[in-house]
Amino acid sequence: MPEKRTHSSNDVNLRAADLVAAMTLDEKIRLVHTRLGFPAMGKNKPEGAVGSAAFAPGIARLGIPDLQETDASLGIANPENVRPGDHATALPSTQLLAATFNPELARLYGEITGKEAHDKGFNVLLGGGLNLTREPRNGRNFEYYSEDPLLSGRMAGQAIAGTQAQGVVSTMKHFALNAQENGRVQANGLIAEKNARESELLAFEIALEEGQPGAVMPGYNLYNGEYASENAYLLNELLKGEWKFPGWVMSDWGATHSTVRAALAGLDQQSGEEIDAEVFFGDALRDAVTAELVPHSRLDDMVVRILRSLIQVGVMDVREADPVDYEAHARDALSIATEGLVLLKNDGAVLPLTSRFNRIAVIGKNADKGVLSGGGSSQVIPQGSIREASPQQNDFIRTTVWHPSSPLKHLCEKAPHVEFTYADGEDLNEAVRISEQADLVLIFGWQWMAESFDAPDLNLPGVQNALINAVTEVSPSTVVILQTGGPVAMPWLDKVSVVLAAWYPGISGGEAIADILLGISAPSGRLPVSFPAEISHLPRPQHTDPELSNALPFAEMRQDICIDYDIEGADVGYKWFERTGQKPLFPFGFGLSWTQFSHSGIEIAEQRAENVSVRVCVTNCGNQSGTDVPQIYVESHDGRFRRRLAAWHKVTLEPGETATLTFDVNARFLAEFEPDTRLWKINAGQYSIVCAQHAGAPGIRTSLTIRQSSLAAIPELQLK
Ligand code: BGC
Repeated sequence: MPEKRTHSSNDVNLRAADLVAAMTLDEKIRLVHTRLGFPAMGKNKPEGAVGSAAFAPGIARLGIPDLQETDASLGIANPENVRPGDHATALPSTQLLAATFNPELARLYGEITGKEAHDKGFNVLLGGGLNLTREPRNGRNFEYYSEDPLLSGRMAGQAIAGTQAQGVVSTMKHFALNAQENGRVQANGLIAEKNARESELLAFEIALEEGQPGAVMPGYNLYNGEYASENAYLLNELLKGEWKFPGWVMSDWGATHSTVRAALAGLDQQSGEEIDAEVFFGDALRDAVTAELVPHSRLDDMVVRILRSLIQVGVMDVREADPVDYEAHARDALSIATEGLVLLKNDGAVLPLTSRFNRIAVIGKNADKGVLSGGGSSQVIPQGSIREASPQQNDFIRTTVWHPSSPLKHLCEKAPHVEFTYADGEDLNEAVRISEQADLVLIFGWQWMAESFDAPDLNLPGVQNALINAVTEVSPSTVVILQTGGPVAMPWLDKVSVVLAAWYPGISGGEAIADILLGISAPSGRLPVSFPAEISHLPRPQHTDPELSNALPFAEMRQDICIDYDIEGADVGYKWFERTGQKPLFPFGFGLSWTQFSHSGIEIAEQRAENVSVRVCVTNCGNQSGTDVPQIYVESHDGRFRRRLAAWHKVTLEPGETATLTFDVNARFLAEFEPDTRLWKINAGQYSIVCAQHAGAPGIRTSLTIRQSSLAAIPELQLK
């Protein structure tokens, strides 16, 4: 794919400053608020809008293009079919992408969305969602990455960089602590600075360094008592101050609440203004600047930030649109989906399916037609999708969408010797009847999740658990394939032979599942989130009342629901389970392959100041080729912190083959944030460096002595 031109930081700043100097007050105001880019709230699509989430007219006399903004991370959305008949590649969920543990695939993923955005006429992609999975019931976990700051930060950063390499600005969102959908507009996340800096904010900091997004979108939620979109600590102090973010902060849709307060706290642009109570950044901002309630220099700063990112990313360089190569992108989606499927159980080596199974029953809703996708503003609806009325009815999610990639069809094509029978599972008796006549049963379980609501619990909806239980009574071997937006409970786990987590696998998902089941591809995904054994093990078993969910208009909804995130603090996910001694159903980082691996010979390869690297030998000790994901965790001996993922590799080995791998331990994960000095400090003392197959495994370890405390050198944002 053609890469965009790069510009030096100096050029960019000068060009942006020159443009602002040439702009009138009205022209500046025009750039700092966007309208919805599709017909909504009684208004038509704005003239000139390509048609998507938002639009602001450019300034032709200065060569400033229109802002054409589109959702989102999983592909290019087409809200209300505003671009009649236009479709796009539906990529697997970013949660599946995180399960690949493969930053190169994250880069490719971002390139695909960036390229399609560009070729459809968009120049800002509202991608880059990376809130940590603190709440497994969160309806948007599928749009995020993981529970770990390093994995989330790296993968999201690479996806953002991939998008921007196509000359399209990417956001990074929803900054910060937008951890749940129930009551998301009222949720007031309370967290101590140290806890936030070592978890959620660390993920954002890493993504910012790796991806250098042109824009940042704060969440709907409140953060320590202030809306994230007008939170001076988050925006001015941290993002623009300490982290030196040079781009612009755009509000989420319906999340601008004021003019002067928001402008002074660091918000640079009001988005989708029709949803807010007022056009806060239109005439009201002009009046506030004229009355010197907002300094003119602050308005200039807003505009410079927008222009700077457009110039930096290459939006201002005209590049012709190419026709989208959907076939090539579907092939890429297949590679990503295949690497992100996680094999959780494979008793008796039932997989890969071999010629011993001649009669296979396939059971599950729409398994003959397609694979499930998550709903909300990120929804991509490729041609041929199956749309059903959704159980939740609101502006985001009137339909549930299944992507047209049928697992059954691919299984039939790839295993012509097998006699497949199918039942959708609605009728338990029919499902049992076809199971009785089969050598093996494949059950496709599903859990539909979407923006604007959370799951009530971790159960597969409806009769699915009963269905799986009933089938296991008569089937010699049961394989469960899960299409979910995150962790689910498996009360039937002991009775089934195989569990394969397929997340929302996207436009080539059915083929990816068939390939793994049949052994055409080997599983290599690892869990990006812990699967809890029980809701009671979570930091907040009692979840926010769904009745407090969002009905527009957002503006009327200030009614704080305090959520105490200091319960787990920085110990999100696996760190929480370790602290509380609860054994999860499946731990973070877990995943099987067709073969087994052993790790040996762990030693410190190099230790210079804070730079530590560690060497480990990884051997494929089984009899098939396979891919391992050895994970390096650090632990402090004095209990200052528990296990933290600090590095990983993904390596493919033939049977008997050994690779000696060197891992650079990310110094941030040896360090602690000190709220008083606001510095990252590596304390003198003893640490363990552990290489493990997953967060719950003892692994092999070596000790590390830090003789002298030091400050961790945090990479400066290296803006070109
Ligand atoms: C979502 C954002 C999205 C925006 C525009 C909001 O509902 O929270 O993630 O980018 O809509 O569609």
